[in-house]
Amino acid sequence: METVVSGIRPTGNLHLGNYFGAVKSFVKMQNEYNCYFFIADWHSLTTHPHPENIRRSVKTILAEYLACGIDPEKATIYIQSDVREVAELYLYLNMNAYLGELERVTSFKDKVRSQPNNVNAGLLTYPSLMAADIIIHKAVKVPVGKDQEQNMEMARKFARRFNTIYGIEYFSEPASFHLSEKAVKVPGLDGSGKMGKSEGNAIYLVDDEKTIRKKVMKAVTDSGPTEPNSEKPEAIINLFSLMDIVSTPDTYAYFNDKYNSCEICYGDMKKQLAEDINAFCTPIRERILEIAADEAYMEKVARMGAEKATESAAKTLREVREIIGFKAY
Ligand code: ADP
Ligand code: TRP
Repeated sequence: METVVSGIRPTGNLHLGNYFGAVKSFVKMQNEYNCYFFIADWHSLTTHPHPENIRRSVKTILAEYLACGIDPEKATIYIQSDVREVAELYLYLNMNAYLGELERVTSFKDKVRSQPNNVNAGLLTYPSLMAADIIIHKAVKVPVGKDQEQNMEMARKFARRFNTIYGIEYFSEPASFHLSEKAVKVPGLDGSGKMGKSEGNAIYLVDDEKTIRKKVMKAVTDSGPTEPNSEKPEAIINLFSLMDIVSTPDTYAYFNDKYNSCEICYGDMKKQLAEDINAFCTPIRERILEIAADEAYMEKVARMGAEKATESAAKTLREVREIIGFKAY
C-alpha cells in the first residue's frame, strides 16, 4: 500500500482553509493509503520560539484532527517531536542543502520580511525538515494546500539529490495530493487573499454559531452589479468560492443567478453562507470539545502514534545510516 504523510503546525486552531485544503483529504485518504498524519511542533519553533504552552497547542490540534474524523485505528497520528529520527534525517538533508536555494524559497523571503528580528536557521531550513518528515516514511503522496507547492518541490529535490549523491535509488519523489484536479484555495472574507491564521481572517472549526455569523456578516462586498452577467470583483468571487465549498450546488446556483440578473442581496447570501458554515462546523465543534476533555484518550492516541511512527522512521534511518556509511543501529 502506498504511503501518505502530512502535517500541520500547532500555531492555533484549525480553520476552514486547513480543513478544505488538507484535513478533508486526510480523512478520505486514511481508507486507501498507509497514512501518517502528524503535528509539526518542531516547525512551529521557527515562528514561535517561546511556545507558551506547546503541549497544550499540540493537544488542540490532536483533538481537532480526531474530531474531523481522522481515525487512529486507520491512520498513524503522531507528534513530530516524538520521533527523534526525523531530526537525524533533517541533519543529513541539511548537509546537502545549499544556502542559495534555501534563500530563494518564497515563504522564507516572506518571513524575513514579517519577522526581521528572528531570521533563524530553522526558518531557512524549513524545507529540509519538511522533506525529512515526508521521506522518512517513504511517502509518495502528500495532501497539502496550494501554498505548500514550493516546499514540495524542495522535498522532491532533496530526495533526488540523496539518491544521486549516494548512487542509489532509495527515496522516491513525493507528489502533492489534492482531492480535486485543482488545489483548493479557501479565500478569506476580507476582500482579497486566502484564509489564514496569520491573515487574521480565519473562520475556525471551533468557532461558535454566533461568532461564525458575525464573521460572515462582516465579509467585504460591494454595491452589487448594475449590468446583467457582469464579471465579479475579487471580494465577490471569494464569497462565491466559499459558498461553492460549503453549500449545496443548488444554493450556489440560486445566488449566482441572482447575481447575474442583478437581483443579488448580499445580506441574504451571507445569512445563507453563515447557516451552511454552521451546519458544517457545529457537529465538529461539539466533537472537539468532547475529545479535548478526554485527556487519557488523547494520551493513548499520541502514544500509539509515536510508537508506530518511530518504528517506520527507525527502519528508514537504519538504512540511511548504512547508505551514507555510518554504523547502522
Ligand atoms: P495558516 O495559513 O493558517 O498558517 P498553515 O500554513 O498551518 O495555515 O496550513 C496548514 C495546512 O492547511 C497546509 O496544508 C496548507 O496548505 C493548508 N491551508 C491553509 N490555509 C489554506 C487555505 N486558505 N486554502 C487551502 N489550504 C490551506
Ligand atoms: N509546511 C506545512 C504547513 O505550513 C506543515 C508541514 C510540515 C508539512 N511538515 C510537513 C506538511 C510535511 C506536509 C508534509 O502547513
